[in-house]
Amino acid sequence: MISTSRLRLRAYLPADVDERAAMFADRQTMRYYPRTKSRDETVAWIDRNLLSYERNGFGLWVVELKSTGEFLGECGLVVQKVDGAREIELGYSIKRARWGQGFAPEAAIACRDHAFEVLGLRRLISIIHPDNVPSQAVARKVGMRHEKDTQLFGLPQRIYSLDAPDMRRPCRPTSRSAGDAPDSVRATRRST
Ligand SMILES: CC(C)(COP(=O)(O)OP(=O)(O)OC[C@H]1O[C@@H](n2cnc3c(N)ncnc32)[C@H](O)[C@@H]1OP(=O)(O)O)[C@@H](O)C(=O)NCCC(=O)NCCS
Repeated sequence: MISTSRLRLRAYLPADVDERAAMFADRQTMRYYPRTKSRDETVAWIDRNLLSYERNGFGLWVVELKSTGEFLGECGLVVQKVDGAREIELGYSIKRARWGQGFAPEAAIACRDHAFEVLGLRRLISIIHPDNVPSQAVARKVGMRHEKDTQLFGLPQRIYSLDAPDMRRPCRPTSRSAGDAPDSVRATRRST
């Protein structure tokens, strides 16, 4: 469904439980989460995502390597409640053997573009433990900024956020008169 140069993002299948459970059982991968998760909890996690695809048209998707089909982790969109407000979180998790190869930012940038351009969402956040430096690096690569600090899932968290680009605003000053349509609108008109 979502594709990048190296990656394919697809819906979870029940058969993904072994790969995802191995990530959830790994203490280093789960270092900044409240605790590791069991196999049964992994089954419930996949079920919750299948339900979210139906209800919201999005969820966390499996990230796999296009060339071999290898399971690399997950990336996608999750409804969260932060300080009383409904937010859509851009989340990502990559299996430890594949850290440091730029897979999380590549998948997250594709999800960001899908969220803004296809789903029409206006804002995304990421919820990141203050000590999770690798994840904050990913959030910055996606274009997010540290907005505020809060408490969630019983842990201190940094909220990173990004608003959808305003398509009505021209990218650069032009010499055309104020009544002219912006470039994006004119391009649409030309193609119709
Ligand atoms: C955070 C995470 C998704 C990053 O994924 P990734 O595909 O490795 O992303 P990148 O390759 O861009 O690396 C991101 C940062 O990880 C760090 N990193 C790179 N290789 C690493 C390694 N072998 N071990 C630990 N950290 C490493 C670097 O700080 C890097 O930032 P830089 O590129 O600015 O130097 C991944 O570490 C992960 O899944 N962690 C566990 C789950 C998690 O914390 N998810 C985010 C929850 S908010």
